[in-house]
This record gives sequence, structure tokens and C-alpha cells, in this order.
Amino acid sequence: ENSRQKQLVELHEQAVKLYHHILTNTKMGEAALAYLHKRGVSDETITTYQLGYAPAQRLLKPFFDERHVDYQLLRKSGLFSEDEAGNLRDRFVDRVMYPIRNGSGQTVAFSGRLLTTNPEMPKYLNSPETETFNKRKILFNLDLARTNIRNQQPAILFEGFMDVISAYQAGIKSGIASMGTSLTEQQIYDIKRITRDVVICYDGDTPGQKAIKRAIDEFSHHDTNLNVKVVSIPNGMDPDEFIRSKGADDFNKLLTHAQAPVEFELNYLKKQYNLNSEVDQSRYIAEAIKLISQVNSGISRDLYLNRLADEFSVDKSLLQQQLTPLLKKTP
Ligand code: GTP
Ligand code: MN
Ligand code: MN
Ligand code: MN
Ligand code: MN
Repeated sequence: ENSRQKQLVELHEQAVKLYHHILTNTKMGEAALAYLHKRGVSDETITTYQLGYAPAQRLLKPFFDERHVDYQLLRKSGLFSEDEAGNLRDRFVDRVMYPIRNGSGQTVAFSGRLLTTNPEMPKYLNSPETETFNKRKILFNLDLARTNIRNQQPAILFEGFMDVISAYQAGIKSGIASMGTSLTEQQIYDIKRITRDVVICYDGDTPGQKAIKRAIDEFSHHDTNLNVKVVSIPNGMDPDEFIRSKGADDFNKLLTHAQAPVEFELNYLKKQYNLNSEVDQSRYIAEAIKLISQVNSGISRDLYLNRLADEFSVDKSLLQQQLTPLLKKTP
């Protein structure tokens, strides 16, 4: 790690303190603090995650100028936007600030959330890519979750900051988030270095369900040795909303009942068909058999085939005939 990277981290750590101070100790921060409390975020959690507030009035630039911080360093930090004349202005304005730490616990970026969503502006604004921040290589909360994951807890993969934070506050401390982007190879690699057990816990809405499908594909295409499970959050809620409305016990129950990926995929597939039509029934069955053929364990395949036969009252041997040619030849 070179000294420039150290300086960038140091700059971020000063910004974390300033934004956190504004949130917790000033009049400027009152509305943002009320917003977080209203979302059920406790003061302890605000401290743990060093949440902050970037006020409407820009103040990071004057703060660093007073301390004579080098202009080029400020430029490279991602904390400012730059106009054509090269003037820097605070990038984050009137947003709740979520510090983003790398796996070693160094703050390398921020995401800022609007207090009130507005279709004209992104709900979350992230730092741009910098020398120390590559979004594809970071899993939010990995630094805090790592020990718990090593202690036999599965890595729980969430979509967003608030899902991770709510879960943590409810005592489920092995959550990480890919921050909205689809899961990358590097992120899978980082997970594999600490555990083989992963629970995908994305939002219960339609985009969340599509993202689960993509994540399952990505995991299986990179490593068939991972034990991946899937949680479906009911009623289109996201994990944060679920924990807030139903509590930690019910959320833990969802985790215990996490499904095998193929079960999720069969349900997902089923929704694409009109199963009152016989044409669609046989199309669904053909696609379902393809999914079942990908399952490694012969016993599990047999159980899924039984279930399919029962569900549509068809002869299992017919299903078996369709399945056999699809099976991977084992040498
Ligand atoms: P809340 O509304 O605060 O509860 O956020 P959420 O996490 O439920 O948001 P959502 O499910 O819409 O998105 C999941 C994640 O995607 C967020 O936590 C962010 O990391 C990311 N995300 C959402 N909206 C934006 C956006 O406008 N810009 C960027 N860059 N990322 C976003
Ligand atoms: Mn979502
Ligand atoms: Mn890939
Ligand atoms: Mn969400
Ligand atoms: Mn949410």
C-alpha cells in the first residue's frame, strides 16, 4: 500500500468524523437524525456504522482547505466534483452518509442517501471509482461480518446498506452487500476465501427475484462447491422492511427455511407459465426437468422428480425418460 492510498484513506476517515459529528451533534443534522430514528436505526448502530450527514451547505471543501490539504489529493479522493475551471465542490449534498470500508476496515468511499426520494436524483449516490475504491471489488460490511462468518455463520448476501445494517442491529451479524450491482467474480472470490455457506437474501420485489436468479447462475458458474441457499422475503418486502415489521425471530425463521437454488428456480419458472393450460403445463415440465438435471445428487433429483410427477399427476417413468439423456456423463 503506497503512501498516496494511505493519504486517501486518512482523508476519508476525517470526512467520516466530520459527517458523523454533523449528524449526531448539530442542528444541521437534526432532520437526518430524525430520519434514521424513524427508520428504526438506533444510536448504537449509528455509532457502529459511523453514519453521517452531508448538509445542504457544502462544508467538506472549506474544512480541508483550512487544513491545507493538497489540491491534487482532494481531486483524486472522489469526495468532490470538479468544474471546467478545476474548482472542487463537495460531491455529497443533503444526504445521509454511509461510509464504505474495504475488507481491512479502511474507509475508501461513501454512499449518500436522499432523505426524501426524488425522481430527478439518484436515491443513493456513490463515490466514483478511485485508486482505493473499485465498486466491483468491495462487499459492504465484510470487515465486520468476517469474524462471524468464520464462526460458522453463513455469509448472508443482501442488496443494500439498510438490509445489512438492520440485520446487524437485530443480531444477525454476518451480512454483506454487493450494493445494488450484480455480484462480481471478485466478490465471489472474497466470499469463498472465508466460507462455503452463502444465503442469498435479496429483496422480495420483482427486480430482487431477477437478481437472485442472476446470482445463482453466477455462483454455480464459478464454483459448484459452494453451498448456496436462497431466502424469499414475502409480500415484496426487502429484508430491512421485513425485520422492522416482523422482528428478528421471524427473520431467523426465514433464514432457517432457506431453499436450495433449484427450488427457487422451479418456483420462479412456474410463475412464467399459465398452468391452467395443458400446453403450458408440458412446457413447464420440460423446463423443470432441465433444471432438475443440473442437480448433482441423484437422490435429490429423484425427490424433485417425484414431486413433479405428483404435482401434475403424470407417470414418473415418463419424466425419468426425459431426464436421463440430459444428465451429465460422469467419467
Ligand atoms: P432504502 O430505500 O434506503 O431502504 O434502500 P434499499 O437498499 O432498499 O434500495 P433498493 O432496494 O432500491 O436498492 C438496493 C441497493 O442498490 C441500495 O442499497 C444501493 O446500494 C443501490 N442503489 C439503489 N438506488 C441506487 C441509485 O440510485 N444509485 C446507485 N448508485 N445505487 C443505488
Ligand atoms: Mn431492491
Ligand atoms: Mn461470470
Ligand atoms: Mn431494498
Ligand atoms: Mn429498503
